[in-house]
Amino acid sequence: MNTIDLQGRTAIVTGGAQGIGLATAERLVSSGARVIVWDINADGVDAAVKQLGHGTSGQALDLTDEKAVIRAAEAAIANGPIDILVNNAGITGGNAKTWELDTAVWRQTVEVNLIAPFLTSKALVPHMMGNGYGRIINVASIAGKEGNPNASHYSASKAGLIGLTKSLGKELAQTGVLVNCLTPAAARTPIFDQMSQEHIDFMLSKIPMGRFLEPHEVAAMIAWLASEECSFTTGGVFDISGGRAVY
Ligand SMILES: NC(=O)c1ccc[n+]([C@@H]2O[C@H](COP(=O)([O-])OP(=O)(O)OC[C@H]3O[C@@H](n4cnc5c(N)ncnc54)[C@H](O)[C@@H]3O)[C@@H](O)[C@H]2O)c1
Repeated sequence: MNTIDLQGRTAIVTGGAQGIGLATAERLVSSGARVIVWDINADGVDAAVKQLGHGTSGQALDLTDEKAVIRAAEAAIANGPIDILVNNAGITGGNAKTWELDTAVWRQTVEVNLIAPFLTSKALVPHMMGNGYGRIINVASIAGKEGNPNASHYSASKAGLIGLTKSLGKELAQTGVLVNCLTPAAARTPIFDQMSQEHIDFMLSKIPMGRFLEPHEVAAMIAWLASEECSFTTGGVFDISGGRAVY
C-alpha cells in the first residue's frame, strides 16, 4: 500500500459505519488523518469509532435533515478545521421498473444520495473557503453515467451527484477547495441486501474484469483525491469500474 500523507488533516466521512465508508475511514486514518464518522446508524458509528481509534469521533445523524447537518458541522468545526469531506452515504431504494417504483422511495433515494451531499457541502464549503483549503469527494456510481435498468431512482440520483460535483468544482476552482467524484461499479457490501439477486448478477455481468470491486480499492482512490497531491483536478469524475465505463 502506498503511503499518502494526510497528517494533520481532519476528514468527515458520511456513511462511515460500514462498507465503502468504513474502508475509506480506515485508509484515511492509516494515512494520518483524524476522521469524524457521520452515519444514521448510531451503533455502527460507535463500533466504527472504537475500531478506527486514532482520535476518531462520530456523530449519529440523518443526513437528509438539514438542521442536523448544520448542527453536526458546527460541532465538528468547533474542534478545529475540517479539511476533507467524503460524501459516501447512500441507499439503493431497491429494484423495480421505473413505473413500478414507489414515489416516496424514489424521493427518499434522491434525498439521501443527492440532497444530503448538497446539504453537507452547503454546511462546510464556506468554512473550507475561509481556510483556503479543502477536498470534497463524492461517491457516485457507474449507474449515474450509464443508467442501470431497474434502478432509475438510484441512477438519476448519482447522475445528479456527478452534476453537483462538476458545478461546485468550477465554483470553487480558485479557492483551494477541490471537488471530485468517483463512479464505482458494484462492491460486495451490506448495500447488496437492498438489491435483488437478479440485479446483482446483472451488475457483475457488466464488469469486464469479471469480479466485484473491493472497498479498499475505492478507499485508495479516495485517499489520493483527499490529499494535497491532488492539486490540479476539480470537477472530475474518476472511473473505478473494472473496465465497464467507456467514457
Ligand atoms: N457497494 C456498491 O456496489 C456500490 C457501487 C457504486 C456506488 N456505491 C456507493 O457507495 C456508497 C457507499 O456504499 P456501500 O456499499 O458502502 O453501502 P452501505 O449500505 O454498506 O453503507 C452506506 C452507509 O450509509 C449510511 N446511511 C444511509 N442513509 C443515511 C442517512 N440518511 N444519513 C446518514 N447515513 C446514512 C448507512 O447507515 C450505511 O452505514 C453509496 O453512496 C453507494 O451508492 C456503492
